[in-house]
Amino acid sequence: MFNTSDGEVTLSSGEKTVRFPTVTGTEGDVGIDISKLRADHKRITLDYGFANTAACRSSVTFVNGDTGELRYRGYRIEDLAAQASFPEVAFLLMNGELPTKAELEEYESELSGHTLLNEEMKRMFDAFPRGAHPMGILSAATAAMSTFYERYHNPRDAESVKESTIRLMAKLPTVAAFAYKKSIGQPYMYPRNDLDYSSNFLQMMFGLPVEPYEIDPVVARALDVLLILHADHEQNCSTSTVRLVGSSEANLFASVAGGMNALWGPLHGGANSAVIAMLSEIDEDGGDVDKYVARAKDKEDPFRLMGFGHRVYKNFDPRAKILKEFASDVLERLGVNDPLLEIALKLEEHALTDDYFIERKLYPNVDFYSGMIFRSLGFPVRMFTVLFAIGRLPGWMAHWKEMIEDPNTRIGRPRQVYAGHTERDYVATGDR
Ligand code: CMC
Repeated sequence: MFNTSDGEVTLSSGEKTVRFPTVTGTEGDVGIDISKLRADHKRITLDYGFANTAACRSSVTFVNGDTGELRYRGYRIEDLAAQASFPEVAFLLMNGELPTKAELEEYESELSGHTLLNEEMKRMFDAFPRGAHPMGILSAATAAMSTFYERYHNPRDAESVKESTIRLMAKLPTVAAFAYKKSIGQPYMYPRNDLDYSSNFLQMMFGLPVEPYEIDPVVARALDVLLILHADHEQNCSTSTVRLVGSSEANLFASVAGGMNALWGPLHGGANSAVIAMLSEIDEDGGDVDKYVARAKDKEDPFRLMGFGHRVYKNFDPRAKILKEFASDVLERLGVNDPLLEIALKLEEHALTDDYFIERKLYPNVDFYSGMIFRSLGFPVRMFTVLFAIGRLPGWMAHWKEMIEDPNTRIGRPRQVYAGHTERDYVATGDR
């Protein structure tokens, strides 16, 4: 029996009744505090994928998966995407409030003051094989950055935290662009501090030392909006990884490198490139969308519709809604006619009217349309997850900082229900 009353939940079994306090969030979510469960009652909980487990209290981002709402520090994602810049959103996530004009100018100038990499890091890029996946380079270079900034490793020192967060945010686009240039055998382009965050990244990605690079304002703004939409999403797999690594008091660079590796997987940030692979396959296979919807429903077939479904959203992902409109708009303004957009729209329409997807509340997620826009801006598919990582960085850092500052934080150390052999005697090799 499970009873809820004000501030408490009681669990009864036979004669025994156990009481647990509850914690109510500002948006009304109720968490049952089971922190004394093992100590007082010798029981633990089992929750695969942590689908029912809150690991912390957080004030960074709110997601309502039933209504399809997303807010950073209380501000609606739709408003931020329409009106803010990416550095402004990064400041908001990191500091809790939107910057004043003067604060934003100071933050942008701090960022542009730290865009260069230590020249010694260039040897590391050179050491990777030609064609190395840029996500592998990105996380390796982020971990390697920790070796240049050992003086900022102490997570308990506010000045060190500030210096390391500025450096990582300033340098990640340079790392990403170097990783790309390495993979195509072109010379590295150095940052230009007269340009805004997204424009500078574009010139490092697509510029060449032999000729001037013209920034297309449509492309620069589209990139900024995409980065804003990816900037945070509360306790997702990569952010939880950053928090878990950081809970051991590992430095910021090491913690974020861990998050990048978690992001790489196709069920998480790797889905944006998987979507393009899937749409291209459908296109090359004659564009028969029904065949792929049928495959996704077939339990014998491991195929899933990439860019569909979400652990939290059981309604439209608000980012996907924004991106769907944005994709048509950007493609039109850039004069790009991408046959994959038509396939994506058809696929969405078929899936949304199919009982399998309706019953399971599977809607397009952020990755479904983002790849289409990245592609139209000229980014190669292997860079898509890197772009997601650049966007997600402020969220990772805001959560890492919040975790470090929270007096309730303890090292992350889940329990297990042991299911292996019971005790047995060792048998010598010859007797096995
Ligand atoms: N295609 C077909 N069936 C699906 C899909 C899909 N994309 N997603 C979920 N299902 C089915 C799943 O088979 C299961 O069916 P049943 O109840 O019959 O066993 C049911 O829906 C629930 O799925 P789940 O796998 O238990 O859900 P989850 O919360 O563990 O996983 C997910 C969420 C996002 C990993 C999953 O929906 C998925 O694999 N989607 C495709 C990959 C993708 O687009 N990932 C990006 C996620 S959003 C941004 C990000 O995090 O990076």
